Amino acid sequence: MSDGRSAPAVAEAAALQTRGPDAVPVELSINGVTHEVRIEPRVSLLDALRERLDLTGTKKGCDQGTCGACTVWVDGRRVLACLTLAMVCEGHEVTTIEGLASGEELHPMQRAFLDHDAFQCGYCTAGQIMSAVALLEEGHASSDAEIAEWMSGNICRCAAYPNIRAAVREVRDGQRGGASAAG
Ligand code: FES
Ligand code: FES
Repeated sequence: MSDGRSAPAVAEAAALQTRGPDAVPVELSINGVTHEVRIEPRVSLLDALRERLDLTGTKKGCDQGTCGACTVWVDGRRVLACLTLAMVCEGHEVTTIEGLASGEELHPMQRAFLDHDAFQCGYCTAGQIMSAVALLEEGHASSDAEIAEWMSGNICRCAAYPNIRAAVREVRDGQRGGASAAG
């Protein structure tokens, strides 16, 4: 008895089901470099980055979507790598903290975090910076309250929040001021 799906739809569903549960080749584009890894479909993007690709700048805090330490970008949008399957990132561009600097030159947000002592232990910092840069792109940094709200998914156990906000403000205001901002 037919379930109402067309033959192509049934074939497509069958093809999807044939990947896994054992390890399968997955092609990931990370920081502009294409990598092929063999992973089980259940592997998170966070574990693929850290355990398979030695990209350990992205940190594992809670591994359940509550701390923000694992924040990366997929196609320029911030996501939690612990809640994202690596496999679904095929065909998309992943950016991690390792991809933010231009060679030896730090991203302005990385420089601002250093200048404002926006960390203590540093465990949350990669996620904070990835989130902070995206925050500015999203236009969600008009006030301290808005910065706090839109960064609320990034927890800092060292409570460096005032310094983090100062770093975000500096980069925001530098962007507004353009080339006249102090270097
Ligand atoms: Fe992903 Fe905590 S490790 S949100
Ligand atoms: Fe320690 Fe944020 S600097 S958790």
